[in-house]
Amino acid sequence: MLKKQITLAITGASGAPYALRLLEVLVKADCDVFVLISSAAKVVFATEERIKIPASPDAASAFFSERFSARPNQIRVCGKEEWFSPVASGSAAPKQMVICPCSTGTLSAVAIGASDNLIERAADVILKERGQLILVTREMPLSSIHLENMLKLSQMGATIMPASPGFYHNPERISDLVDFVVARILDHLGIDQTLMMRWGYQPTP
Ligand SMILES: Cc1cc2nc3c(=O)[nH]c(=O)nc-3n(C[C@H](O)[C@H](O)[C@H](O)COP(=O)(O)O)c2cc1C
Repeated sequence: MLKKQITLAITGASGAPYALRLLEVLVKADCDVFVLISSAAKVVFATEERIKIPASPDAASAFFSERFSARPNQIRVCGKEEWFSPVASGSAAPKQMVICPCSTGTLSAVAIGASDNLIERAADVILKERGQLILVTREMPLSSIHLENMLKLSQMGATIMPASPGFYHNPERISDLVDFVVARILDHLGIDQTLMMRWGYQPTP
């Protein structure tokens, strides 16, 4: 049986822990994941996680597969100009894509349909095919340009999901904050999750 397929694009906004945790949980949920990583995201990974993502897509696939004990070919990292990869065409791309974290640069490129690298093209494909596109943006404060781009994409059916964890679940560790954001993404993707107690099911204070 075909596995659920998701495209996960990782761009150069702060928030590498969100991307890592999301990939980990998608793998545990038995999804096949196409992973697209921008050059700036690699700098952020080195800065925030001390992780050096291998330059070649195959080596990066092997790196993440080993880290998350993925099935063979479950994680496929695609290069930024790998135009023949399935995510580049509406005839083959997964119907769901998350950009996590999403930089304001990529937000802007997606909003204008630039399609200048595989991340932008994959997002453009999702929009034209009326699939599900989730942008986990991270910036503060937001300029009018950012807000206009978010509004434009929201009106096209994309989901703008800023990485802004709540505190009502009494987080004790950074990982609790990360899980808050990842849990909401999984809810939108329709993937069962138990990372976070749901609102209304928590003990009342
Ligand atoms: C450590 C680090 C943190 C950054 N944090 C953010 C951020 O939170 N939001 C953002 O929009 N850009 C951030 N940037 C800037 C982007 O990486 C930069 O604009 C880049 O061109 C985005 O390219 P990309 O969209 O191809 O990843 C950060 C850069 C670095 C090196």
